[in-house]
Amino acid sequence: MSASEDIVRPGETKPRAAGFMRAPWLAYDAMREEAGPLWQEPETGVVFVLDYALAEEVMRNHTRFSSFADRAAMRKGGLPEEAMKIKAEGWPFALTMVQNDGPTHDAYRKLVGPFFLPRRLKLMEPFIEARIAELLDAIDAEGGTCDFFPDFAVPLPVSVIGEYLGMRQLGDDKVKRWSDAFADEIGFLTSDTRAVEIARLTLECHKTMVALCNERRGGNGEDIITALANAAAPGGGQLGDPELLSILTQLMVAGNETTTATLGFAVLRLAQDPELFARLKAEPQTIAPFIEEVLRLDSPIQGQFRKAVGDQELGGHPIPDGTMLHVRFGAANRDPAVWGEDAGELQLGRRPPKPHMAFGNGIHFCVGAALSRLEMRLALGEILARYRTVRLAAPEENLPFRSNFHQRGMTSLPLEFE
Ligand code: HEM
Repeated sequence: MSASEDIVRPGETKPRAAGFMRAPWLAYDAMREEAGPLWQEPETGVVFVLDYALAEEVMRNHTRFSSFADRAAMRKGGLPEEAMKIKAEGWPFALTMVQNDGPTHDAYRKLVGPFFLPRRLKLMEPFIEARIAELLDAIDAEGGTCDFFPDFAVPLPVSVIGEYLGMRQLGDDKVKRWSDAFADEIGFLTSDTRAVEIARLTLECHKTMVALCNERRGGNGEDIITALANAAAPGGGQLGDPELLSILTQLMVAGNETTTATLGFAVLRLAQDPELFARLKAEPQTIAPFIEEVLRLDSPIQGQFRKAVGDQELGGHPIPDGTMLHVRFGAANRDPAVWGEDAGELQLGRRPPKPHMAFGNGIHFCVGAALSRLEMRLALGEILARYRTVRLAAPEENLPFRSNFHQRGMTSLPLEFE
């Protein structure tokens, strides 16, 4: 059995083991007890940053702690040869946003930022509302019984980003398959067979995206692919294929599993607590603070890597050059020093002393935060307006979680809406 196939007991400090993401905060408590706010993973030396103040210090100092890391190399044993061969048939990797720092990061980010401004998002609202109604109508046609993931939480964000990018005609299933492949690669707890499959899917996705960009050069469509295919590159001229692929795949992947996971956690909380359901239904103004508390408590991205640039010091500890840190947003978001002794409880009236870190912090703060908040607000608003209650239709302890180093999310949530 490999480490990632081990099943952890609650609180066990094995972040690569299956089941770790069920209740990672128990493990964070154990890690803090063992080592304080900086806990080092024994097999890899990766340093977990577990309190808010240190997490903020790392996230806000990208010259000391860079976002660049060879993520494929983080996989135990590297990539299988067959996957490397398939990769070699594709395009070279370009640094644009999430793994980049400094002025070139800012320049690429400026290209993308305008798509997520309020007036642009407003244009997406009718599409999102129609899609929510369509998905819920299908659930109603089944008498209110569903698996919330395949029936709602997966297709909603996939179709929204597909529409926004201008690739929905390819089919939502294809976008989801590609998006999952990228997410699994970044999460690196994959078998060799899956690693090869991911390489194939990546190549297929890249070829399709390059073809779409070529078709749309000179066009005047409203979609993001057309806009970027015709945009000026930060260094002059048009964006090259590797840059386009880097930006487009980040947009495709980053918003899918994360929004899906958050919708799942939000509705699970409603199913667990009928009084909460009733309160949100009666007071729709509490939906937005509810979403923020779900993001804080359930943090669908539990953490991200940063790499020490030169010898550093953090919280009084030396951090040698090249050390990989994993800033655990999920731990910072429950740090009692910031959120108080009831840090682990959902409080609709909470006045956050600091912003939660579910969307990150600093120059890489999630560019799609407003889009995902809009999707979740509209989705939960309609669910609460349409139904009297929702029940969990499976034992809670059996709900399956994805195996991923960073992302936290369930894969199935059987429900009955009434
Ligand atoms: C609940 C939903 C979401 C969550 C929890 C989330 C979380 C995050 C986090 C934690 C980061 C920071 C990564 C880092 O510092 O290394 C990030 C960055 C990013 N997110 Fe999101 N995200 C969500 C939705 C979206 C959506 C809908 C999109 C786009 C359509 C998106 C696109 C991006 C991009 C492009 C970045 C990189 C920004 C940069 O490097 O400057 N995200 N997200």
